[in-house]
Amino acid sequence: MKAVVLVGGEGTRLRPLTYDLPKPMVPICGKPFAQYQMELIKKHGINEVIFSLGYKWNSFEDYFKEGSNLGMKIHYVVEESPLGTAGAIKNVEDYIDNDAFLVFNGDILSEMDLTDIINFHKQKKSKSTIVLTPVDNPCIYGVVELDENQRIEMFTEKPKPEDVRSNQINAGLYVLEPEILNRMERGVNYSIERQIFPAMLEEGEPMYGYKYPDYWMDIGNPFKYLSANQDMLLGKMKHNPGLVNGIHKGKNVTIADGVTLEKPVWIGDDVIIKEGAKIIGPAVINKGCKIGESTTVEKALLWENTELGSGCSLNSCLVGRGCKVGDGVSIGELAVIGSGVTIEDGTCIESGGKV
Ligand code: GTP
Repeated sequence: MKAVVLVGGEGTRLRPLTYDLPKPMVPICGKPFAQYQMELIKKHGINEVIFSLGYKWNSFEDYFKEGSNLGMKIHYVVEESPLGTAGAIKNVEDYIDNDAFLVFNGDILSEMDLTDIINFHKQKKSKSTIVLTPVDNPCIYGVVELDENQRIEMFTEKPKPEDVRSNQINAGLYVLEPEILNRMERGVNYSIERQIFPAMLEEGEPMYGYKYPDYWMDIGNPFKYLSANQDMLLGKMKHNPGLVNGIHKGKNVTIADGVTLEKPVWIGDDVIIKEGAKIIGPAVINKGCKIGESTTVEKALLWENTELGSGCSLNSCLVGRGCKVGDGVSIGELAVIGSGVTIEDGTCIESGGKV
């Protein structure tokens, strides 16, 4: 079996971080997000992956190359203009054979049992299997209703509270039979969620929903992306990103006397933390960062090689790579600072601000 990973979107909700890196390449505890997906795919015995690319596609090829580091074969198919989530699948048709194939949205973090999902698809003789995840507030999503055999009966877009009959939404992972490709013309933009699946249902094709109750997060906006990093530190996933007693300390890390580390904290290689600084977890400080004297970093995420001056206060914010933050700067909750930004001494960036 082969897996197609859709990674061509511009990731507009994660801007300005995605001006520097495409969303699937943003780091989670020191590793590009897409690498977790590749490791999951590999773990379930799938060795051939097709990346369906567009925006900043070189970042993927520069990092994964032909895939041999992971023991996989990777193909890169680049769109001239965005083809949507289904047009992008049609565009990789040359790599699909007569077998069913997996499709991943390139922004979902989970530890799904792909083997069980594929077996379910085969047992049910399904044409399209959609993995489903439960949500607390179905009214803001497109929900999927199933019958007692888990066959899909209906898709309902943003149901009113009185009409809610399911809390299951599309989790962005599908098993598809290759005939689905016959429903599309090459080079045309199609949405799998809004066009192709509803049309299949209308025509009575057997489609099934696989309910996945465990950890699932789409990293599409700053809150969710920060949460994905923090959840990994808080042990909400099985994967441990190298924490020992709640702390990961990379190689060549320098921590001065009088620094407070409140776990869980993830610190990459070559980080320097100066006197009196406080790192309050769950926080992630990527490789090469410098934290100035008496600076507090609380529940925040710093990408590589960012330098914070002294007496700064960062709270639940996201800071890109290579930033230079002056002395006495404060950055509020869910503020997002793009890569390479310089912030003058004493600046206050309000909650939700974008720089
Ligand atoms: P936003 O702009 O913030 O909505 O993010 P996005 O562009 O990533 O869109 P969305 O979250 O809806 O996309 C879900 C997944 O499909 C992501 O992994 C995208 O990279 C991918 N994707 C979305 N549109 C396209 C497309 O036109 N072509 C390809 N190849 N992938 C796409």
